[in-house]
Amino acid sequence: MSDVLARLEEMRAHDLPTHGGRTLAYVYDSGLEEADEIGRTAIAAFASSNGLDPTAFPSLLQMENELVGIAADLLDGPPTTVGSVTSGGTESILLAVQTARDAHPEIADPSMVLPSTIHAAFLKAAHYFGVRPVVVPVGPDYRADADAMAAAIDDTTVLVAASAPSYAHGVVDPVAPIAAAAAARGVRCHVDACIGGWVLPYAARAGRDLPAWTFDVDGVTSISVDLHKYAYTPKGASILLHRTPALRRPQFFARADWPGYTMLNSTTQSTRSGGPLAAAWAVVRSIGDGGYAALAAEVLDGMDRLLAGLAEVPALHVVAQPDSTLVALETDGSCDVFTIADEMKSAGWYVQPQLAHAGHPPNLHLTLSAATAAHVEEFLVALRAAVDKATAAGPVVVDPGVADFVRALEPAALSDEDFDGLLAAAGMAGDPAAGTVLPERMAEVNALLDLAAPALREAILIAFLDRLARPTRA
Ligand SMILES: Cc1ncc(COP(=O)(O)O)c(C=O)c1O
Repeated sequence: MSDVLARLEEMRAHDLPTHGGRTLAYVYDSGLEEADEIGRTAIAAFASSNGLDPTAFPSLLQMENELVGIAADLLDGPPTTVGSVTSGGTESILLAVQTARDAHPEIADPSMVLPSTIHAAFLKAAHYFGVRPVVVPVGPDYRADADAMAAAIDDTTVLVAASAPSYAHGVVDPVAPIAAAAAARGVRCHVDACIGGWVLPYAARAGRDLPAWTFDVDGVTSISVDLHKYAYTPKGASILLHRTPALRRPQFFARADWPGYTMLNSTTQSTRSGGPLAAAWAVVRSIGDGGYAALAAEVLDGMDRLLAGLAEVPALHVVAQPDSTLVALETDGSCDVFTIADEMKSAGWYVQPQLAHAGHPPNLHLTLSAATAAHVEEFLVALRAAVDKATAAGPVVVDPGVADFVRALEPAALSDEDFDGLLAAAGMAGDPAAGTVLPERMAEVNALLDLAAPALREAILIAFLDRLARPTRA
C-alpha cells in the first residue's frame, strides 16, 4: 500500500503546487494549515457518503442547509432565500441557466443576455441546454454595458447575467441597472460571484468602494458563489442561491416512472460524494466569519501592494483597475506575456496567459490568494526579473508564412491528419507514454495559438485533449 501512495506522490510532483502561494491561478490557498487539515479529515470521513438521498444521509442535508444559510447571510439574501451546494462554479451556472430556461416552457427559442466578459461556463450552458447566447460587448472599462444589455432583452430572454467580478479582469459589472432592466421585463438576473462572492462582501464591510451586486439589489434572482475558491475549501464545492423557492423549483428533477428508486435530485449529479460538502462545511465553520474577514483583509492588502509594485514596472500595465483580487496585465510591446509566463514558471511561479480577444492583446492573469499576500514583494522581484529576461529576448516572432497559414485555416475543413500536423508543428504532439506531451517552454505554442481565431483555438485544443485523453493499457 505504501508503494501505491508513494507512486501518487511521485505523480503529484509534476503538478503545480496547490499550497505555498506561488500558483496564481487554479488554486486558492488560505495559508491556514489547521483549516486545510480539517478539510482533509472531513473529506476523507465523508468520501463514501451519498447525497443522493437526504433521508438516508441526513448529516449531508444538515451541512448543506447550514452552508446555504451562511452564504445567504453573507450575500444579503432575504428570508425567502434558498440554495443548493453544487460541485463547482460551472455546475452552479449550468443549473441557473437550465432553471431559467425550464421556467419558461412557452418560449420556443430561449435566449440569455450576457456581457462579453462573462465566464465561458455560460456558453457551455448555452451549448448544453439550447439557450441562445446574446453576447453584448463590454464598455472600454471592461464592465458590462448596462444600457446595451437592457436593449438586448427581448421576448425570448429567459436570463440576464453579470459578474461580480469577471474572471478575466477582476471588475464588478454594474449589477443594479442590469438587474433593474431585467426585472422591468420580468426576466431573471443571475450574478456570477463564483470567484469574488466570498471576498467582496468583506471588502465592502471594510469600507472599500464597490458597486452593489448582492440580493440587496432588487431584481437579482440568483447568485453563484464558489466555496472552493475564496472560502478556501477543497475542490468540489459551490453554492447556487435563488431569491425564492419558486425561482428554484425547475432546478429539481424527479423520475418515478421506472422500476427502481424514485430519482430525486437537486443538482446535475445524482450520487454525490459527501466528501467535498463535509470538507466545505468543516472549513467554513472552522475559519468562521471573523477568519474570512481577516483573510479578505490580508489578500486585499496584498492586492494593493501588488498594484503599487506593478506601477513601478514600466513594461507592464494593468488592463483594468480591478475591484477584487484578480488582475490582468499587458506589456508595452517590448516583451511578450508568454515569455514572461515561461520565465516565471522557471522561477517557480505560475501566472496564467490569457490570449488576445476582441481586438485586445494577450495578457497575464493573476489570481491572488491569502497565502500569496505574504509573498507579494518576492513575487514582484521575480516578475521584474522575468520581464527583464523577456525584454532581452524580445517578443516571440512567429514566422510570417506560418502566421498567414494559421490565420487562413478553417477549423471545419480540417481532418484528423491536419490536426496531427498542426499539433506536431506547435510542439504539442509529444509521446504521452514518455511524459513529454508539452514542451518545457510554452511561449512559442501560445504565440501561435494567439494568432488563431477563437474557433480555431477551440478546435486545436479539442484535438489536443482528444489525443491526451487516451487510456493507458497494459
Ligand atoms: C467568475 C467565474 N465564474 C465561473 C467559474 C467556473 O468555476 P469552476 O471552475 O469552479 O467550474 C469561474 C472559475 O474561475 C469564475 O472565475
